[in-house]
Amino acid sequence: MSTDQRPTEEKKRSPAIFLDRDGTLIEDVGILDDPSKISLFPDTIASLLRLQKKYRLFVITCQPHISRGHLTMEQVHTVHNALDQQLSDAGVQIDSWYTCPHTREDNCDCIKPKSAFPLQATKDFNIDLTRSFMIGDHPYDVFTAEKEGVFGLYVLTGHGGKHLDELSPEKLVFHRLPDAADWILAYPTAQADLNKTISKGAEKIKEGGVVAIPTETVYGLAADVFQPEAIQRVFKIKGRPHFNPLIAHIADTKQIQTLSPTLPKKAKQLVEAYWPGPLTIVLPKLPTVPDIVTGGKPSVAIRMPNHPIARQVIEQAGTAVAAPSANLFTYTSPTTAQHVQEQLGDQCDLIIDGGACRIGVESTVISFVTDEPTILRPGGISKEQIEAVIGPVQQQMDKAQEESESPGMLPNHYAPKTKLEAYETLPESIELDEKIGIILLQPNGRSYAGPVEILSETGNLPEAAANFYAALRRLDQLGLDKMVTEYFPNRGIGIAVNNRLSKAAMGRAPLSNSDLPPPH
Ligand code: TXA
Ligand code: MG
Repeated sequence: MSTDQRPTEEKKRSPAIFLDRDGTLIEDVGILDDPSKISLFPDTIASLLRLQKKYRLFVITCQPHISRGHLTMEQVHTVHNALDQQLSDAGVQIDSWYTCPHTREDNCDCIKPKSAFPLQATKDFNIDLTRSFMIGDHPYDVFTAEKEGVFGLYVLTGHGGKHLDELSPEKLVFHRLPDAADWILAYPTAQADLNKTISKGAEKIKEGGVVAIPTETVYGLAADVFQPEAIQRVFKIKGRPHFNPLIAHIADTKQIQTLSPTLPKKAKQLVEAYWPGPLTIVLPKLPTVPDIVTGGKPSVAIRMPNHPIARQVIEQAGTAVAAPSANLFTYTSPTTAQHVQEQLGDQCDLIIDGGACRIGVESTVISFVTDEPTILRPGGISKEQIEAVIGPVQQQMDKAQEESESPGMLPNHYAPKTKLEAYETLPESIELDEKIGIILLQPNGRSYAGPVEILSETGNLPEAAANFYAALRRLDQLGLDKMVTEYFPNRGIGIAVNNRLSKAAMGRAPLSNSDLPPPH
């Protein structure tokens, strides 16, 4: 175990933020043996400056390459001194840099998820762990935290996307460090503050209010299904036409009975297989379901989300909750509380920040109102997954809005402000234009003059889908001439993303390279 510590004055017990290094503060470059290889994430300094107003800051890093003989503790200290200098030049003070040099086989007390370092900080700096947080891009960061009553936040930078499956759904995940910092500053007592906000949200829904809630797909604008005036406000806030019906979200399968008189066998099988989760079933509706929810249709769409906060809000509200995506009609769907805040902040009664949505595209909508189950909107559960449970299903092709069964299937949905073009293969002519933003499924070995968003370092489709809307929004804010991207492989969740892509790109057919002017 090794520490480089600064002397500190005696203070009363302070809360702390424990930060992972690689993949959380800086790029994870594998063996970091020289300061020249340090690459700070662009938001790191600003985030730490905000956090240090209230928290002592510590870095805890695992460097098993030391034990394996590929790196020395001295090299790590040199890196830490350089990084510390860079941060302190910008006004950030890290109280201590803790390095575990061991591998798992060494059986030390300091390797994450063991908590020797947080405990040492407690002793040396008089830290109050119960008011402290840990931020990292590996499940072990979250597990280390929890052991000592510290609240762990997971970031999707670095390895975050790769290990997401190992983290249970109730853990909060964030795209980047600043989003995690926002959460900590908004919920300083962590779970207690969050619980209070969830109860407040449920109360507001009972009173006929409109509350933005996180789900695993996208953020929803939630209101009581059975209060038409509240639903009316949802339509108004979104600027959504009334013929476009809403999904009723439930927390318990028993609530289906409050919405529909039947649950066909195949629908039941799907519910058993994929609820809670990104699957919406359309069933005949009960007369008690207000017409405004269903756009006057005789059917109602129902889904049980797999997000602990959504589930608790619905449970405590004691009613089914209509929740269309919490964005203006036709605009890109929100996958963080910040996205909702930017667009609808002053119009909702409350926004509950539950971090980044892990699935990142909307639920699959499948209808059981005719004899043949029909997918109306591709989404988080793929056609393959559905057919594995109930056999062959129909897939509705996109149609014009008048004839569409599911009006969310209109073209020109999910659109950013900046023009978006989707290609089968990106043309070379875009490479020199700095006013063109590029969205890539994975690195392609080319360099671009304009800003580039990589959705997954390894081309992992679920990870890329979870990053897609956020990447689109980041580029959309840069005042670019246009954004370009390639279609995803047409399988699994790639089908859902391609569906959104072609709509965001104004329903245009995939462009071929000859559609573009020659390179300048
Ligand atoms: O993942 C999701 O489903 C998100 C999160 C917040 O849960 N919600 C969402 O809601 O995407 P919204 O309102 O943006 O999309 C609802 C979709 C639309 O495509 C709509 O046309 C379809 O469900 N839908 C709703 N009721 C329907 C009905 N009775 N028949 C056919 N389609 C229906
Ligand atoms: Mg890391």
